[in-house]
Amino acid sequence: MSRQVSRRARSRLPSPARRRFLARGTGLLALGLAGPMLLPSPVAVRARTGDGIHRKTIPGTEESLPTIGMGTYITFNVGPGEAARAPLAEVLRIFFDRGGGMIDSSPMYGAAETVLGDLLAALDYPPEQLFSATKVWTRGTNRGAEQIDESLHLWGLSRFDLMQVHNLVNWREHLETLRARRNHGEIRYLGITTSHGRRLDEFEQIMRDEPIDFVQLTYNVIDRWAEEGLLPLAQERGIAVIANRPFQRGTLFDRFGDQPLPAWAEQAGIANWAQFFLKFIVSHPAVTCAIPATSQPEHMRENMGALRGQVPDADMRAKMIEYIDDL
Ligand SMILES: NC(=O)c1ccc[n+]([C@@H]2O[C@H](COP(=O)([O-])OP(=O)(O)OC[C@H]3O[C@@H](n4cnc5c(N)ncnc54)[C@H](OP(=O)(O)O)[C@@H]3O)[C@@H](O)[C@H]2O)c1
Repeated sequence: MSRQVSRRARSRLPSPARRRFLARGTGLLALGLAGPMLLPSPVAVRARTGDGIHRKTIPGTEESLPTIGMGTYITFNVGPGEAARAPLAEVLRIFFDRGGGMIDSSPMYGAAETVLGDLLAALDYPPEQLFSATKVWTRGTNRGAEQIDESLHLWGLSRFDLMQVHNLVNWREHLETLRARRNHGEIRYLGITTSHGRRLDEFEQIMRDEPIDFVQLTYNVIDRWAEEGLLPLAQERGIAVIANRPFQRGTLFDRFGDQPLPAWAEQAGIANWAQFFLKFIVSHPAVTCAIPATSQPEHMRENMGALRGQVPDADMRAKMIEYIDDL
C-alpha cells in the first residue's frame, strides 16, 4: 500500500525503528491487500480470517475488523520508566498475537500516544493487522490539523486508519478538515465520539446529517441507553460502531467480579467475567468492535478470549441481562 507522508510528519520521523514500522504500513490485512508475499511473520498469519477470530464488516466496505480492539485511556498514560512500560509492551504483544486489530487513543490521554508509538516501534514483528484510530481534541481549527500531524509523529505512522472528533469538540470545523484529509488519502475513515451519554441529541443529529464512517459511544451490559436510538440509527445509516467503556472503566468488575458466573456460562463459551461483558457488547448486531483498556497482560489474555468461541444470540443476550439484573 503506498503511503503519503505529510511534510510536517515526514520531518519528524527520524528513528530507524519508526521508519521500519512505517514501511510496513497499517491495515493491510484488514484491507485484504496483504497477499502471502506481504506476510513475513507467522504472528501476522495467525491473525487472519479463518482462524476462528470474530470479525465484523465496516458497513459499506469489504473490510472487516476483529471485534475486540484496545483502548489506551489511563492505562497507556505512563512515564518513560521501564517498570511502567514493560507490562504494556507485553499487553501489546498479546493483543496482536491473539488477533487484535483496532487500537484507540487520543491527544487527550496524556502520554498514551507517545508510549504507544514507542512500543509499536519496538515490537519484534510487524503488526500488519493494526487498525490505528485516534482523535482530534482541540477548540482551534488550525490547531486541529497540527494535532493530527503530531499524533502521526507520535504513533510513527504516515496516515491513520480512523480519525475521530473527540467528544464533538469543534466538530463542524474538524469534520471539514477530516473530509479534506480523507479525500487526499491521509486518513481512511472519519468519525465522532461521545461517552457517558453526553450531548446525545447533537450526536444523533450528526449521524443523520453528516456522511461519517464510524461513531464511538458507551455501550456495556449496564449502560444500554444506545439500544433505543443510536445503535438502530447506526445500522440504518450504515455507520460502524465502536463501544467504549466496555467495563464501565472497571466498575463492572467491582460490582460483579466476586459473584459466580451463571451456570450456563461455560456452555455459552464464557470463561470469565471479562468475556461475559465483552461478548454481550459485540453480539449486538450494530456494534463493530469493543475497545477494552488494560495495563495487565493477564487481563489482556482474558479480554482477547472474547474474540473466539460462541457469540451470544438474542435469547442468550436476554438471559445475560436478566442474570446481571438479578445480582
Ligand atoms: N469520549 C471518548 O472518546 C471516550 C470516552 C471513554 C473511553 N474511550 C475509549 O474507550 C476505551 C475503554 O474505556 P475505559 O478505558 O474508560 O474503560 P474500560 O475499558 O471500560 O475499563 C478499563 C478498566 O478495566 C480494567 N480491566 C480491563 N480488563 C480487565 C479484566 N480482564 N479484568 C479485570 N479488570 C480489567 C482495567 O484495569 P487493569 O489495567 O488493571 O486491567 C481498567 O481499570 C478507553 O481506553 C478509550 O480508548 C473513549
